[in-house]
Amino acid sequence: MAEKKAQLTISSNNTALELPIYGGTMGPDVVDVRSLTANNLFTYDPGFVSTAACESKITYIDGEKGQLLHRGYPIEELAKQSDYLEVCYLLLNGELPSEKEKQLFVETVTQHTMVNEQLTHFYNGFRRDAHPMAIMCGVVGALSAFYHDSLNVHDARHREVAAYRLIAKMPTMAAMSYKYSIGQPFMHPRNDLSYSENFLHMMFGTPCEETKISPTIARAMDQIFILHADHEQNASTSTVRLAGSSGANPFACIAAGIATLWGPAHGGANEAVLDMLTEIGDVSRVGEYIAKAKDKNDPFRLMGFGHRVYKNFDPRATVMRESCHQVLKELNMENDPLFKLALELETIAREDEYFIKKKLYPNVDFYSGIILKAIGIPTSMFTVIFALSRTVGWIAHWDEMMGDSSRIGRPRQLYTGSTERTFTPMDKR
Ligand code: SDX
Repeated sequence: MAEKKAQLTISSNNTALELPIYGGTMGPDVVDVRSLTANNLFTYDPGFVSTAACESKITYIDGEKGQLLHRGYPIEELAKQSDYLEVCYLLLNGELPSEKEKQLFVETVTQHTMVNEQLTHFYNGFRRDAHPMAIMCGVVGALSAFYHDSLNVHDARHREVAAYRLIAKMPTMAAMSYKYSIGQPFMHPRNDLSYSENFLHMMFGTPCEETKISPTIARAMDQIFILHADHEQNASTSTVRLAGSSGANPFACIAAGIATLWGPAHGGANEAVLDMLTEIGDVSRVGEYIAKAKDKNDPFRLMGFGHRVYKNFDPRATVMRESCHQVLKELNMENDPLFKLALELETIAREDEYFIKKKLYPNVDFYSGIILKAIGIPTSMFTVIFALSRTVGWIAHWDEMMGDSSRIGRPRQLYTGSTERTFTPMDKR
C-alpha cells in the first residue's frame, strides 16, 4: 500500500486527484499515474526522460554518483573479480553461483554454442560487404525458425532454454558474420575453451593451424563483455521488453534489441567514436571538433560523450580506460595514436565550460573501441560485440517481465493532427 501520495489539481475543472507514490530499495520514488486515464488525462514524456516503465530487480544506476550495480554488486568489482558467464548467471538468477552452480551453467552454455548447419545458408544470402549488424539482425531473428521446442514464452523452462541458446550462440553467429565478410571459413566452437577464448578462436582462428590465444587479450575481451552486459531500461532493453509484451518469441525480441542498439546514439556509438578519432587524426584538431560539438547549428556530437542517465563518469568508461592502458602496454602499443588522442580529447572536453555545464562525461563507448581495435577487431564489428554482450541483459529483462503478469505495452499520445473532416472526392479537390 502506498504511504505517500501526490496531489494533482486540475485548474480547468477544479478536480483534485490523489496519486499514490511508491518507493523502491534504491533510487527515486515513482508516482502511479494509472488513474489519470479515468480522468481523461495522459502523462506526456517524449523520450521517457521521467518515466519508470516497469519495476525491476536486475540493475541499478545512479547517474549523479556514476554508480552501476548488477543485482547489488558494483560493476567495478564484477569487472575485476568475476567473469562474463558468472555475471550472466547473476543477472539471470539474482545471486552469484556456487562453484557447482557455475560449473553446471558453463557446461550447459558450452553445449549450446553450435548453430544448426542450415543457419549457415542465411549468411550466403548477404553481400560479402554487408554490415555485420545487418547480418545479425537477420540471423538472430531467424533462430525462431529453428527452435520450435522453446517458443512458449509463458513456460519458465522454455524461457530458460532460449536464454542458454542465445547466450551460447551469439559469439558463434557474431564470429560467422566476421568470417563471412573476409571470405574465410566459419570456425566451429571448441568445448575446451572459455567463453571469451572461444569467441577469439572463432574470430581469428583458421582450419590451417592451432589458434594461439593471449590470456591478456582473452581477459580483456571477457571484461568488455562484462562491462556491456546490462544497463537498466536503455533503448534496446526497452525495445526487447515492448516486443516481449506482445508475446513475441525470444529470438524475435532479441533481434529487435539488436536493431535498436545499432543506432549511433546508442550502441552504434563505439564504431562512431573510432570513425571520429580517425577523422580528427591529430590532437591539434581537437579544438575544431569540440567547437563543432558545441555549435547548435552543427549536427556533429562528440561520440562517446554524454548519457541520458550519467551526469558523472560512466563507471564502465573508467574501468575501460584502465583496461586500455593494460592491454596497450601488453601489446607494446602504449603510444597508440588513437588512445593518446582519446586521452587528450577527454582532458580537453572535460575542462570545457560547455561539457562541464551539460555534465557530459565519457560513456561506455568512448574507450571500448580502442581496446577492440588493439585486439584486432574491425570497427564494423564493434556494435556486434556490444550486442553479443548485451544479449544476457536483454534476456534477463525479458524473462523478468514474462515472469510477472505482463500486459502488452501500449503508450498513448498527445494528438495535434487534423480534427474530423469529410472525404473530398477528386473532382472537388
Ligand atoms: C549508450 O541508455 C543507456 O544506458 C545506453 C548505454 C547502455 O549501456 O545501454 O549506456 C549505451 O548508448 C551510451 C551512449 C552512446 N551514445 C553516444 O556516445 C552518442 C553521443 N551522445 C549523445 O548523442 C547523447 O549524449 C545521448 C544520446 C547519449 C544522450 O542523449 P539525451 O539524454 O537525449 O541528451 P540530449 O541529446 O537531450 O543532450 C542534452 C544536451 C543537448 O544540448 P541542449 O539541446 O540542451 O542545448 O547536451 C548536448 C545536447 O546537444 N549533448 C551533446 C552531446 N550529448 C549531449 N553535445 C555534444 N556532444 C555530445 N556527445
